[in-house]
Amino acid sequence: MNLESKYLGYNLRSPFVLSASPIATNIDNLKRLDQHGIGAVVLHSLFEEQLIDEQFELEYHLTHGTDSFAEATSYFPNYDEFRLGPDEYLEHIRKVKAAINCPVIASLNGTSIGGWTNYAKNMQDAGADALELNIYNIPTDPNLPSAQIEDTYIRILQEVKKVINIPVAVKLSPFFTNMASMAKKFDEAGANGLVLFNRFYQPDIDLNTYSVEPKVTFSTSADNRLELRWIAILKNQIKANLAATGGIHTASDAIKMLLAGANVVQLFATLAKNGLDYLLVLNKELIGFMEEKGYNSVEEMVGVFSQKNLPNPGAYERAQYMHALSNYQLKL
Ligand SMILES: Cc1cc2nc3c(=O)[nH]c(=O)nc-3n(C[C@H](O)[C@H](O)[C@H](O)COP(=O)(O)O)c2cc1C
Repeated sequence: MNLESKYLGYNLRSPFVLSASPIATNIDNLKRLDQHGIGAVVLHSLFEEQLIDEQFELEYHLTHGTDSFAEATSYFPNYDEFRLGPDEYLEHIRKVKAAINCPVIASLNGTSIGGWTNYAKNMQDAGADALELNIYNIPTDPNLPSAQIEDTYIRILQEVKKVINIPVAVKLSPFFTNMASMAKKFDEAGANGLVLFNRFYQPDIDLNTYSVEPKVTFSTSADNRLELRWIAILKNQIKANLAATGGIHTASDAIKMLLAGANVVQLFATLAKNGLDYLLVLNKELIGFMEEKGYNSVEEMVGVFSQKNLPNPGAYERAQYMHALSNYQLKL
């Protein structure tokens, strides 16, 4: 069975890709996934804030001497929590590249226009095969027009594209007024892939500690419908490859994403919950499905249920919403 999947200019041996996550901080994990035939791995992100901190640190040492620095860094929240600093991150890329065979995708995560985007070049030089650019922005300023925010997204991508020639995928939020228009703009700005979607970690109010706490909860399969719809809509409308992330827990979830039009599916929560060997189960079940339905290759499956390929394209649009609501049977 041919599981080969085309993503970011590579012929991956499987459509399963490790999502940016703490799994990637451990090289033994990556070796195991590589042995199990993972298509590619995305490393955990290096954050804009870390790069700004480093610049700040250097400047501060030059102008104030070393002693004051510890106090100054306390202004940066979670400063100590970041696992790898920028230099260690590059070293990690080199080690991972030496340890595994599948493509290694580095991840750079930020929101503003600035020098941090130049770090993409260091990642490329350290051996990254591609870059995932995560633009994770939560705008809250009521005076900031949305067009300006969208323009910033595109400019960040353009800045990154200027300094590297490895492929770039953009991981982004679903919260645009017109997602299709944004996707087209990324496409025109040279994104080689779109990773749909960022999962936002919503803060919660803890009534015991009486404070606002960040809450990281694992996804469930129900979370993947949003990306399913958009992947199906965008397939064949843009050149960039499409990667699905968020709530892909079972082989059925993955199969649906491929049928909708995803070139690859990214996995984190399911591997964290079920263990890395679960990749073998996913592979086996994918192959079982392909045999049952008579597909010889993953490529044949990709986009079979995309909007363009459906006799009823309204299935992914508002018409379906009205249909779903009017067919709902309330049982009290
Ligand atoms: C603990 C944790 C750490 C994560 N770290 C990153 C990261 O460094 N960069 C990134 O782009 N996404 C990160 N993510 C998001 C995942 O890559 C993924 O998009 C998200 O978990 C949804 O996929 P899943 O349902 O398979 O978990 C993280 C998620 C979790 C839960």
